[in-house]
Formats: sequence, structure tokens, C-alpha cells
Amino acid sequence: MSKDQHTGTEVAPEEAQTPEVFENPGMEEHRERLADVDPRSAKRNERIIVLILVISALASIAGIVAYAVIPLDGESSSVRQSTLFLGLGLGIGLLGIGVAAIHWAKTLMSNVEYIEERHPQRSDDETRAIAADMMKAGVEDSGIGRRPVLKAALGGAVVLAPLPVVVPLVGNLGGEWNIDAYRHTIWGDTPEGFVGTLPDGSVGRRLARDPDDTPIRAADVTIGSAFHVIPHGMSEEEEYYNEKAKAVVLMVRMDPADLRERPERESWSYDGIVAYSKVCTHVGCPVALYERMTHHLLCPCHQSTFDLADEAKVVFGPADRPLPQLPIAVDDEGYLVATSDFHEPVGPTYWERLQ
Ligand code: FES
Repeated sequence: MSKDQHTGTEVAPEEAQTPEVFENPGMEEHRERLADVDPRSAKRNERIIVLILVISALASIAGIVAYAVIPLDGESSSVRQSTLFLGLGLGIGLLGIGVAAIHWAKTLMSNVEYIEERHPQRSDDETRAIAADMMKAGVEDSGIGRRPVLKAALGGAVVLAPLPVVVPLVGNLGGEWNIDAYRHTIWGDTPEGFVGTLPDGSVGRRLARDPDDTPIRAADVTIGSAFHVIPHGMSEEEEYYNEKAKAVVLMVRMDPADLRERPERESWSYDGIVAYSKVCTHVGCPVALYERMTHHLLCPCHQSTFDLADEAKVVFGPADRPLPQLPIAVDDEGYLVATSDFHEPVGPTYWERLQ
């Protein structure tokens, strides 16, 4: 015997308290389903389940076919399409199995309601053996043994559903990237009307303010100022946003005495004016927070900090290489021009590893 916590009265052991019959806590009266009483309805529901599973299997196959057929040539549009169809195949494949299972349970599986008593969590061995028998009976009750078409459709859908994930993992996820597309920016292009002539007779693309595309005279750049710069005339580019994303540059002017350049890079700056890619070499955020006194440039994403006075070397943060420098000079009209494209890929370091 034990005591009731609230009243202090003695109560019977737990077994003695368990009523023979539980009261209905408010559940609706049990109703037969149509499929329980009409074999034609059961057959119709079986066909619906098979149809859903077949759609699931076809979606999985379509996802794999799309992965195989859509060329992954490094163009962002084809990667988008391949990812879209692969995702749709996987999603519809898994969704179909889930919907079929729910419909199956609601229409064809046993419609008997059981009242289950609450017991301590671990059942005794006898109860566990009974549970195992019940599970076997449940499998039997689901009718899968008597419905070979349903069984085959379920097997096919379940086997095929993981393939849109497995096949690309075993294959080559993302395809072959066109690395050259990431090495080249339009700073190396010299379209007529947007270039200036250098003392040696060569031409270079003029630097222009972002976004109004006004060419920049060296004389207008004061010490301590910072400019967001794009190649002059880039609004005429077909792939404007893609090209701009790669070509954006931050240009600053500092006291030439502050610059610490290697001799081979002295011709890449002009009287204290330097230009560096704005695409962070960590994972590609725009680095644009310039600290004039220290000449440090901060990336807002993960705080990588680059020293523009020292060839944009990393002084803090996760980036592991300097920002690429754009070599600049002044043309015969006093405008700043790029003397060449960047000498290395812009953006995250992993492009460099994909040699
Ligand atoms: S993207 Fe610049 S620090 Fe991470």
C-alpha cells in the first residue's frame, strides 16, 4: 500500500487501480470506411497508391536523367537547371512515397481501434514477444503479401528515391567548371571609345566611377579618398551583372611614402593610387570598409582585413591570400587606365586550387 500525495489516504497498489474498462475520453464512435465494406473501393484505393508510387519512381528517374543530360559546363544557368531538376526529382520522389504511405494507412490498413493501457516503459519479456507477434500480424494485415503489384511499386519507389542523391555524389557533383571564365575579367578588354592611350602607345581600359560610369582623372583623386570603380563602358556588356561582379575594384590614394611595394609592382600604382579587387578572397563578399589612417580594408562578412599599403596582404581573418591588384597608369589625357587584367583569379581562393 502507498499514500496519495495530496490527500494522504492509503491507496491500493498500481495493479489494483487499473480499471478493467477505460472510459471513452470523448472519441467519436467508430465508423467503417468505404474500403472496409466495398472491395471495389479497396481496389480503387490500391490503384491510387500504385499510381502515386509510380509517379514517385518516375520523378526519381527524371532527376537522374536531368543530371546526366544537362551539361555542367561551368555556366551558372546550366548549373541552376541541373540543380533544379535534380532537386525536383528527389523532392517529388520522396513526397510520393510519403503521400502513398499515408493514403495506404488511411484507406487499406486495418481499421480496428485498439485501447492500450499505460505501463512502465520497459515491457516484460512476455509482452515484448507479444509485440513482435503483433508486428508480424500487422505486416500480414497490411496485405502486402497479397498485393504483389503494390509491393513491387513500393519497392521500386523506395529503391529509386535515394538515387538522385547518390548518383551525383558518386559522379561529379557540379560538373566540370570552366575555370578560365573565372580567370578573365573585362579589365583586359579594350573596346573602342572606352580606352586611353599610354605613353608607350598601348591602350588600356579607363577606370570609371561606379555606378555612373564617369572616367576618373588621376588629378581628381585626393589623398585619403576611396572610389568604387568599374571598367568604363561596362554597361554595354551582355552579361553585365556577371562581369561587374568579377571586375569591381576599390581604388584609394595614399601618401606614396606609405606604400610598401615590391620593385616589380611599382609600375602597378600611380603616385600613391592603388586599385584592388573588391571580391574577398575568403568566400567572395564585397570588401569595402576602408580605414584611412591604417590603410586597412575590412570584409564585413568574417572580418578578414587587408593592408592596402602592403599589397593588400591579409593582416587578420580567415582569408588566406591578398586581394588581387589591378595594375593602373595614367593615359595621355590624364585619365586612370588599367594596363592589363588582374594577374590572378579574383574571388575565393578555391578557384586557384582548381588548376
Ligand atoms: S568573405 Fe570576406 S572574410 Fe569571409
